[in-house]
Amino acid sequence: DPVLQEALKRAVAKKAVELVKPGMIVGLGTGSTSSMAIEELGKLISKGKLKDVIGVPTSYQSRVLARQFGVKTVDLNDVNHIDLAFDGADEVEASMNLIKGGGAAHTMEKVVDNMSGKCVILVDQTKVVSELGLSFPLPVEVLPYAISPVLRSLVALGGVPEIRSALRKDGPVITDLGNMVVDVRFPEGIKDPAALECSINMIPGVVENGLFIGIADSVLVATHDGEEITIV
Ligand code: A5P
Repeated sequence: DPVLQEALKRAVAKKAVELVKPGMIVGLGTGSTSSMAIEELGKLISKGKLKDVIGVPTSYQSRVLARQFGVKTVDLNDVNHIDLAFDGADEVEASMNLIKGGGAAHTMEKVVDNMSGKCVILVDQTKVVSELGLSFPLPVEVLPYAISPVLRSLVALGGVPEIRSALRKDGPVITDLGNMVVDVRFPEGIKDPAALECSINMIPGVVENGLFIGIADSVLVATHDGEEITIV
């Protein structure tokens, strides 16, 4: 139910911005859930309830939304720390390892989420899984120059890779960083996410993959029990 899912995302976005304190430098994630959190953050700032907050965007999307909703932003390279980052995810498992990159923004998200004092992941109940990769393919950002050898290496690792196509453009998705995205299915699931993260990133020409291991510090999950929405 798309209406319910919207409501769940909104609820978790509102909860997330309660964690932001005046003066904080905040990592701004990408995707539909993070977008709502950026909007909610902007509302608090424009009501005067939150002062001196600065955002660090993880994509053109989050930068544009921050500007639209009145959240000041700064370039990642102009800060030496980030207090708190909020971000969405495509899959979350019990030990808080994640698959991200459904919106092709995982490379910048990983840099920002990793350097944050606290990384809070915002999801609705549909994202929680027992094992990563069983239903969502793993996004890998790849240098266009090296696309063919990288595809072969991904097959050698047991994956079934597919170059992501753009919806409203003919040809491949090109990321905010100018690269391609390969979605890799692992038909048996991902048994050892930490090992796979390293193996994929060792392939020359891979920029970054969407496995986030040990980066999330907490996960807020919005659930609906038929009556009300709760965040756990
Ligand atoms: C962006 O590349 C992704 O990592 C997103 O954070 C992820 O796809 C979650 O997006 P939604 O909140 O739209 O599901």
